[in-house]
Formats: sequence, structure tokens, C-alpha cells
Amino acid sequence: MKLKNIYKYSGTLIVMVMLAMVSCDRDPNNPGKEYAPNMYLPVGYEPYKQEKPNPVNPMGLTMRLPVEGTVARRNYKTSFGDGDSAQVDLMVYNIPADSIEIAEKVLKNPVPLNDKTLAEGKVMYERYCQHCHGASGAGDGKVAAMYKGVPNYASDAYKNLNEGHIFHVITHGKARMWPHGSQINPEERWKIVHYVQKLQKGA
Ligand code: HEC
Repeated sequence: MKLKNIYKYSGTLIVMVMLAMVSCDRDPNNPGKEYAPNMYLPVGYEPYKQEKPNPVNPMGLTMRLPVEGTVARRNYKTSFGDGDSAQVDLMVYNIPADSIEIAEKVLKNPVPLNDKTLAEGKVMYERYCQHCHGASGAGDGKVAAMYKGVPNYASDAYKNLNEGHIFHVITHGKARMWPHGSQINPEERWKIVHYVQKLQKGA
């Protein structure tokens, strides 16, 4: 490039830089104009987000303190009577969805197995599992006619799945089976595990 041209172009460049600086002169605290703000801001209450003071609650806060006497999850004390091995953390399950091997190794059913807990597990099973897995666990529930791939608990591939594995599958789901952790609390899940283990024996 000729020297003359360099002078010419650098002049243009300086003008461009100056323009760019002018056009960036905007108040960063000004959000600008919003078109249809209720499309961006939720109308309902959000637990961790609040745009305006709440006119109903004390101190304008949408989040309220738990009512007096509320029991924190990790202090949920379960008592099953004889043979109880429940620890204080029964209600907190931290093993991530992709770590079923850990669940298999470390989990033990804290709910003692007796007629009462097994009967409760059966009720829960009928409510949450039977429509797919069938009354005897053979994978022949009414929904399974349409929702393919429901296994038979007593078949060779499934009869030896251990308690931790089953608890984890109920909580997080597996492949075509959906998670149930949000619908069934841990105590109930462990009771269902007892009942599934009975079905695994083909009983
Ligand atoms: C919508 C139908 C459906 C419901 C409801 C359902 N399951 Fe399943 N379940 C399946 C299907 C399908 C599979 C096979 C998953 C796969 O491997 O694709 C399965 C697999 C399983 C397995 C074997 C997991 C493995 O390691 O392969 C267990 C144990 C199980 N379910 C237990 C339960 C229990 C207990 C309930 C009730 C809380 C339940 N399921 C509810 C459809 C269902």
C-alpha cells in the first residue's frame, strides 16, 4: 500500500472510531423501552424473583417465612417401631440421577419389612405403578399395552435388582420410565421397594 493511501484510510478509521464512541454513549442503567412488559415479567408470584413490593405481605416481600412449627426436611423423624433403622436424613436424597451404581452400593431400606409396611407399599404400588407394571409385576398393566417396554420384575434380568437400585429408579426414572420422586415421598418409595421385591420373587 502506498504511503498516501495509508494516510487516507487512517483518516476514515479515526472518524469511524469516533462515531462508535458516540453511539456507545448510553446509560447502562436505563433498560430502554419495553414492548408489552407483562410478556417478560411474570404476573404470578415467583419464589425467588420479585419486581415490585408486594402490597399484601408484611415488608413488601412475596417470600414468606415458613409457619411456626414447620419441620425442615432433614429433621423429619420417622419412626417405624421395631427394627427401625431410619436415620434422620430419610427425607433427603442426594444421589444424582446418573449415579445408580452408587445407589446400588450404599442404600439400605430403612423401613422395616413387616405386614403393615408391605401392605402400605402395596397400596402405593397399586396407585403409582400397577397401571404399567401389572398387579403381579409381570409388565402387563393396561397402560403397558400402549406404552411398550415395561419389564417383568420376576424375569432373569430383573429379579435380582437390589433395593437401592429400585429406590433410585422410582426416584429418578430410567430410560422409558419417568421419575416419580416429586409425587411419592421417600418413606413411601421405600415401602414400594419392599412390595416390588416381593413381586420379583414371583410371589
Ligand atoms: C408409564 C408406565 C410406568 C409407570 C407408571 C412405572 N413404570 Fe417402571 N418401568 C416402565 C418402563 C417402560 C420400564 C423399562 C425402562 C427401560 O429400560 O426402558 C420400567 C422399568 C422399571 C424398573 C426396572 C429398572 C431397570 O433397572 O431396568 C423398575 C424397578 C420399575 N420400573 C419400578 C417401577 C415402580 C416401583 C413404579 C411405581 C412407583 C413404576 N415403575 C412406575 C414403565 C413404568
